[in-house]
Amino acid sequence: MDGARKILVIDFGGQYSQLIARRVRECRVYSELIPLDTPLADIRAQKPAGIILSGGPCGVNDPGAPTVDPEILAGGIPVLGICYGLQLMAKLKGGQVAHIGRAEYGGRTLTVSDHGALFAGLPGEMGCWMSHGDSVVEVPPGFQVTATSPNMPVAAMEDPEAKLYGVQFHPEVRHTECGQDILKNFLYKICDIAPTWTPVSIIEEAVGRIRAQVGDQPVVCGLSGGVDSTVAALLVYKAVGNQLTCIFVDHGLNRKNEAEQVADTFRRHFHIPLVHVQAQERFIGKLAGVTDPEDKRKIIGEEFIRTFEGESHKLGKSKFLVQGTIYPDVIESGTTSAAVIKSHHNVGGLPEDVDFELVEPLRMLFKDEVRVVGEELGLPEEMVWRQPFPGPGLAIRIVGEVTWERLEILREADAILLDEVKRAGLYRELWQSFAVLPAIRSVGVMGDERTYAYPIVVRAVTSDDAMTADWARLPYDLLERISQRVINEVPGVNRVVLDISSKPPSTIEWE
Ligand code: XMP
Repeated sequence: MDGARKILVIDFGGQYSQLIARRVRECRVYSELIPLDTPLADIRAQKPAGIILSGGPCGVNDPGAPTVDPEILAGGIPVLGICYGLQLMAKLKGGQVAHIGRAEYGGRTLTVSDHGALFAGLPGEMGCWMSHGDSVVEVPPGFQVTATSPNMPVAAMEDPEAKLYGVQFHPEVRHTECGQDILKNFLYKICDIAPTWTPVSIIEEAVGRIRAQVGDQPVVCGLSGGVDSTVAALLVYKAVGNQLTCIFVDHGLNRKNEAEQVADTFRRHFHIPLVHVQAQERFIGKLAGVTDPEDKRKIIGEEFIRTFEGESHKLGKSKFLVQGTIYPDVIESGTTSAAVIKSHHNVGGLPEDVDFELVEPLRMLFKDEVRVVGEELGLPEEMVWRQPFPGPGLAIRIVGEVTWERLEILREADAILLDEVKRAGLYRELWQSFAVLPAIRSVGVMGDERTYAYPIVVRAVTSDDAMTADWARLPYDLLERISQRVINEVPGVNRVVLDISSKPPSTIEWE
């Protein structure tokens, strides 16, 4: 993606920094988040078409407040400062920023006094999202105020000659009406970029890179069944065909029919060489008697690695390993340049002495972009839109010991829950929806008989990134259908309960 003209978002640690990059990409312009200490020479070397300075938690007048090389604002590269970014721009160019006791949080009305290029074609008044304590009280020489809000004499300012623009509100937040149009004006009119970053261009570029990296060498890929590793494998296959072999370690902890579906899609739909390792007995055997969640994770992770290593050795020496690392993993790891192994993902990560060079075709893509690429590559919809699933699978949704019997109960209950959620048209709206099997039993009555059986917990959450999550307000009639079907159709269950906890303080998974 180096070839594309891009926008660099300098990250001052604001809660919306990632969102800015995503919104720019939604305008079909490639964008990357970079740390604020990125040297000016590195920034220039990337030849950005524009720079966005993000918001951040500090005040520009705080001791040690983060800043940038002022040369960034003097290089003729268009710059848009957002919130903290605007205030920093004001300060560095000789304006004044102060705490005037008029903090603004939430929706405000923006009044545009001078439309210029940034507000071109937009209404004179619009709702916008504010979140700041300090304010620009005096714009720098050469700048003019272009918008105000009730408490804010400087809600937007610009120096069009110098191609410097700043907004106090957050155009990247959906509550800002026309926020996306403001970004488009910045990108298309001010930075003069065309919206050419499309799924097709992403695929073409990825294929070129993979070919350049791998040459004519063999490559292996560990498939998990999830959308990331699947799309990564498809891209590599498109690039180097049968040089790729996928290894799917079936640990027996997948959702109902999931393993078969993955194998079928790869073999029949795409004709991709696949080794389907039937390792269910091996995994469940190792989990016998284990109840501690972290012990389960470690055992599954270790077993996964050993099985994967064994199979890849059988295939002969391969220097390259495909990983489904995506951009949020790269950003979270704090190292946007070095290769990162997705250790928190998959099933415990790969060993430290791993002797592979990583091929990571998705490392600059957000999850929704991975899905769009998957769709473009012809991946069936049910796989593209599959809800995230943890590497250790159902083992961490069974509280207590994992046995064949308990796995079967959970798998069946989970399948019913998902079926009903899909029928209700809610599957895509929910970040995750699944069943959990706790390690308790309770009394019930079925027919004339007393039962002493397990409950099933319904867990459904909405979330943007799994860092925080809210429990989903599922309709009562849906809950009723799930409850009736699970109790009637799954032997060993006599009660269904609903988890109404958000994250934090709870987690999405139960273990
Ligand atoms: P929690 O439960 O921590 O989960 O709120 C956040 C997200 O991470 C997934 N998750 C895992 N994924 N290996 C994984 O690959 C794991 O051990 C693991 N534990 C949790 C979880 O499904 C949710 O999407």
